[in-house]
Amino acid sequence: MLVKTYGSAVFGIDATTITIEVNISIGINFILVVLPDSAVKESQQRIKAAMKNNNYKYPGKELTINMAPADIRKEGSTFDLPIAIGILAASEQVLTDQLEDFLILGELSLDGNLKPMKGILPIALQAKKEGYKGLIVPLENASEAAIVQGLKVYGMSCLKEVVDFFNGDESFLPTEVPSFDSSNFQADNSVDFSDVKGQMAIKRAFEIAASGGHNVILIGPPGAGKSMLAKRLPTILPPMTIDEALETTKIHSVAGKISKEAGLVTQRPFRKPHHTISDVALVGGGGYPQPGEISLAHNGVLFLDELPEYKRTVLEVMRQPLEDRQVTISRAKFTVDYPAGFMLIAAMNPCPCGYFNHPEKECLCGPGNVQKYLNKISGPLLDRIDLHVEVTPVSYDELSSKEGELGSAQIRERVIAARLVQENRFKSDSTVHCNAQMSSQQIREFCSLNDASAEILKVAMNKMGLSARAYDRILKVARTIADLENFRDIEVKHMAEAIQFRSLDREGWAS
Ligand SMILES: Nc1ncnc2c1ncn2[C@@H]1O[C@H](COP(=O)(O)OP(=O)(O)O)[C@@H](O)[C@H]1O
Ligand SMILES: [Mg+2]
Ligand SMILES: [Zn+2]
Repeated sequence: MLVKTYGSAVFGIDATTITIEVNISIGINFILVVLPDSAVKESQQRIKAAMKNNNYKYPGKELTINMAPADIRKEGSTFDLPIAIGILAASEQVLTDQLEDFLILGELSLDGNLKPMKGILPIALQAKKEGYKGLIVPLENASEAAIVQGLKVYGMSCLKEVVDFFNGDESFLPTEVPSFDSSNFQADNSVDFSDVKGQMAIKRAFEIAASGGHNVILIGPPGAGKSMLAKRLPTILPPMTIDEALETTKIHSVAGKISKEAGLVTQRPFRKPHHTISDVALVGGGGYPQPGEISLAHNGVLFLDELPEYKRTVLEVMRQPLEDRQVTISRAKFTVDYPAGFMLIAAMNPCPCGYFNHPEKECLCGPGNVQKYLNKISGPLLDRIDLHVEVTPVSYDELSSKEGELGSAQIRERVIAARLVQENRFKSDSTVHCNAQMSSQQIREFCSLNDASAEILKVAMNKMGLSARAYDRILKVARTIADLENFRDIEVKHMAEAIQFRSLDREGWAS
């Protein structure tokens, strides 16, 4: 008898349905298995053991298994369950009438238990798109699959339960579908900008950064509050939309980072990889490619604390993704893309000892060493950072002050308003959402200057010795500052404020 079951393979962050055909013809007493991938071949051993240990008969007749499409890599072990159910159905131990309604997914252990797997969300989304009634998944993955509305998701713990289900046992209930309200998609509220005393200028810089989606570097001595400030950036970003949440969750799903209870990722990610991180762990890759930290930060924030400590190669591999907002991983036979649209926030000391330009303490490094330290991150990476922010420690008086501080909710309100202005501006271009993402052409179109603003920019370029590369950065930031006030034109005051954020471009900053 010929039976079909349906599984799924994930490629990048999208899934493809795989049809599994199992055929058993009577009479000939040997087994022939046609399986496309060595990993899938290994699953035959597990399936056999799981079936025997649960007192099902493994057919001793000619058994043929085909998987289509043939040209797609079917790595991994998630085909154990659909193959096992296919064999059981072809040998008349499982009823076939519901098999065409479900995608079946899961790895079997030898005793027949189901193990959780990666990439369930993209599979569930694909199942919905293709009109399947539902999914059979390992219990641990049920809440993640149930994110997708309109699918019946059955979380199962072992092979026997799945067999009983298809044989008509009606005691299994689909996983409750949670309802999502994106107005609740707030950031982690255990931290808030009101925790930060004083630092009004820095809070203002963060407001601008969050509004325009600009990358930021914080430069200042140890203890100035750089790490504290960076951690609070997500609290002033607009809440994620449902689409953003789904996209971010897909990446976390493929990386196997969704906890059993969590389901949808509703908070913007804040990823803070340690400076010992490898290239692959940061941007993604590996034999069976996996998304890296920059993709896990998609729609959120990537924080690189103590930037000069990172290996130079690590910083180099980030350049392309910073530009493209996605990362492409190429292998001999295929390439995969992972989204990587994140806000970069970096922090560093101004010099090895940390006290260069400090109001009270003395720097012991010597000018040569200061420059050498800065050169570690110079050039291409710095080129992609719009805002250079110098952080000086607050005074004791400010630290001990009892006054109420400007908090995240207030800042976020203004950020959201400025984002609305930008949404309107970029309505016709679905790839650009905020000012930081403007192409050179869009900069020419949307950042035209009146004579007065053009003049102060020119003076600043000359007087401060700003490089040509600073020019576009300043225009983008000035645009955002004008948007915060809902001004159509970039005025002198907007320009003047934007110019302050290029301290690292200043010729001789550290000499
Ligand atoms: N403006 C501030 N308001 C409140 N606490 C501060 C402020 N600046 C620094 N601190 C305190 O100092 C600690 C060290 O700051 P941190 O963010 O680690 O500094 P950095 O990263 O610049 O070395 C913080 O955890 C916080 O307790
Ligand atoms: Mg720090
Ligand atoms: Zn120093």
